[in-house]
Amino acid sequence: MGNIPLPDYNYNWMNGYFGGVFTTAFNDSLWRKVDLPHDWAVELPFVYINAETAKLHGYKPVGDGYPETSKAIYRKVFTIPEADDGKRISIKFDGVFRNCTVWLNSFRLGNNYSGYSEFTYDITDMIKYGGKNTLVVHVDASQLEGWFYEGPGIYRHTWLIKTAPLHIPAYGNQINSTVSGNSAKVNIETQVFNQDNLAANCEVESKIVDASGGIIGSANSLLALNKSEKKVIKKTINVSNPSLWDIDNPYLYKLITTIKQANKIIDVTETNFGIRTILFDANKGFFLNGKNIKIKGTCNHQDHAGVGMAMPDRLQYYRIEKLKEMGCNAYRTAHHPPTIELLEACDRLGMMVCDENRILGTSEERLKLFEEQIIRDRNHPSIIMWSIGNEEAIQDTDYGRRIALSLQQLQKELDPQRLCIYAANNKNNWEGINSVIDIRGYNYGAFESDGYHKDHPNQIMMGSEESSALSTRGQYTNDPLRAFVGDYDVNAPSWGSQAERWWKYYDARPYMAGAYVWTGFDYRGEPTPYAWPNISSHFGIMDACGFPKSNFYYYQSWWTEKDVLHLFPHWNWQGKTGDTINVWCHTNAESVALFLNGKSQGNKMVEKNGHAEWKVVYEPGILEARGIKKGKIITDKVETTGNAFRLVATPDRRSIKADGEDVSIVNITAVDENGREVTTASEFVQFEITGNGKIIGVGNGNPSSHEPDKILSGNYYRKLFNGKCQVLIQAGRQPGEIKLKATSEMLQPATVVITEEKAAVRAFVL
Ligand code: GAL
Repeated sequence: MGNIPLPDYNYNWMNGYFGGVFTTAFNDSLWRKVDLPHDWAVELPFVYINAETAKLHGYKPVGDGYPETSKAIYRKVFTIPEADDGKRISIKFDGVFRNCTVWLNSFRLGNNYSGYSEFTYDITDMIKYGGKNTLVVHVDASQLEGWFYEGPGIYRHTWLIKTAPLHIPAYGNQINSTVSGNSAKVNIETQVFNQDNLAANCEVESKIVDASGGIIGSANSLLALNKSEKKVIKKTINVSNPSLWDIDNPYLYKLITTIKQANKIIDVTETNFGIRTILFDANKGFFLNGKNIKIKGTCNHQDHAGVGMAMPDRLQYYRIEKLKEMGCNAYRTAHHPPTIELLEACDRLGMMVCDENRILGTSEERLKLFEEQIIRDRNHPSIIMWSIGNEEAIQDTDYGRRIALSLQQLQKELDPQRLCIYAANNKNNWEGINSVIDIRGYNYGAFESDGYHKDHPNQIMMGSEESSALSTRGQYTNDPLRAFVGDYDVNAPSWGSQAERWWKYYDARPYMAGAYVWTGFDYRGEPTPYAWPNISSHFGIMDACGFPKSNFYYYQSWWTEKDVLHLFPHWNWQGKTGDTINVWCHTNAESVALFLNGKSQGNKMVEKNGHAEWKVVYEPGILEARGIKKGKIITDKVETTGNAFRLVATPDRRSIKADGEDVSIVNITAVDENGREVTTASEFVQFEITGNGKIIGVGNGNPSSHEPDKILSGNYYRKLFNGKCQVLIQAGRQPGEIKLKATSEMLQPATVVITEEKAAVRAFVL
């Protein structure tokens, strides 16, 4: 990766005119070598300027006013073997933020504007077969798209796709199923493209395999195609006693489509899908496989501590696992089409998805983007609805109404089994989009929705965005200087509400299908209510590392069947003996008794969807809560600890795949001499790594930390924030061991060994 000024790069005078960077001979030895996916903003320092866009994007020097650091050129010189001559070859970018221009061997392939859309170029004619090829991607992030961190770069995967001229194009299978009684009909539409200058005959074989690989149904057909002809074939395969895709048992089938010519296999495509039914009822809410389920969702952006937007696939799974642990069953991809691997994680782990369009509109370009999004994503069983947009200024107008109608019509043509929602922040207004949308989404302002429901009894309703409650993990007072918000369920912006307030309202109304909380995780940018030094949001139920804040346990109490009793704050209030401390308990116990050093502080009844709360005069020692739930005692305690004495490193997995991509997420804490976690520790920790893995980023969830998430040369370091920080370790491509040592001047170090197990490495170009 590097950056040099380019002449009018949109239109070369003629192919190859500019030479230089576009050619293999160009000397890029001083350029940086980077691995994809890549986000360059996460590598830049935080810089204060008094500008709204800078604040919303997390104070990184990217965008308006930063010409030097808003543009970059990625170059890749790679070989395509002689033997590939005769195949169709294309290059697919899953997401580049943003406005990029791509050349291969100095042929300009095209421009792509949005940082959230996938784009593909057929490069068959422009390849040097049996030789070196030069791919150049110029990325210009001077103009931003959203009001949150958008980390420029080639931040999603990039693929080189090789097929026979006669093949199934990308996303060429559309799979729908209907379930009746104990059997399902799987309806398959397969596109076949003869991208050749000769007519062709072929056999198209469709096989459905179950999760253990057994074939459970198949259908064959013969097809004759003219040159350059595309045909669609339709098949129905019956599946008896199907295992339904569910949030608890996310069962996936696979469709394997094979094209044969003269009995020789020339193309194979695998498409995962699930069999399940979804239904919305305007009075009773949502049904999955006939079962009424409240949508307990979160909205999320797509960055994580340490890596920004360039997320290794494993992190997608980690984040979905964390949300599920809390009882969250649905995910809204705010405010744009998601990374494919996020959808795969949701399919595999059982998380329902609201797949959101970037911007409302029906210009040719906007329709094309929405169409491509639906075609790309529609086979994912996790998706339960499409969102056509969010809080658009035209939502109450006739423009809005017409555009919504057109988008919904397009969506029904491409995907007749789902509905659309729109995320409206206009309270109970009916005009414009709300008057025609399938699912009426409330972005906040739903507290008087009963009247709306009475007036429009046939419209499905839910919260497209709720709460925006504010908190900083492990801080228990509002601190404007350091820009922290106390971690009790009391803080919310004027438009939002505390967790308990909104959930009580929705839970009491069966016609409300549920809601998506803003947000599951903190994200960079959009600091609220403070600004600098605050560089990231406080809306998360978890921080940017996925460490739970207190509200995590509120939701877990009322969104899961687990026994939950979480007592807070910590009990390290040195110098505050005699002061009154607010003590809370998030729990689904019916009553909780609290004891400080064995002395009763009172017994509290806990109402449904509520919490327990005491005022306790502080003295050091042990604060213990004992809850009674259905006759069973559940307890939690917080304790005054000694000073931090030793570091502890806990990886999410000690064994990862040696595939060059897998990641172990190592959480670091500090304990005192008696092994008690010191949740107030803020020691500076340094990391050393040996073996063939690498650290790809660090974080600590502190929304005002200006420490680097990425360190390009030298050892990584990070301060503990309220007792925690996180290190992301990525495997190499050789089996072996990675040893991480975490040290801090006054503390005993922690060492952890991660084993890299032999694994298939995904194909890559050299
Ligand atoms: C909403 C908006 C979100 C986020 C949120 C913060 O209005 O849709 O993107 O800005 O407010 O509370």
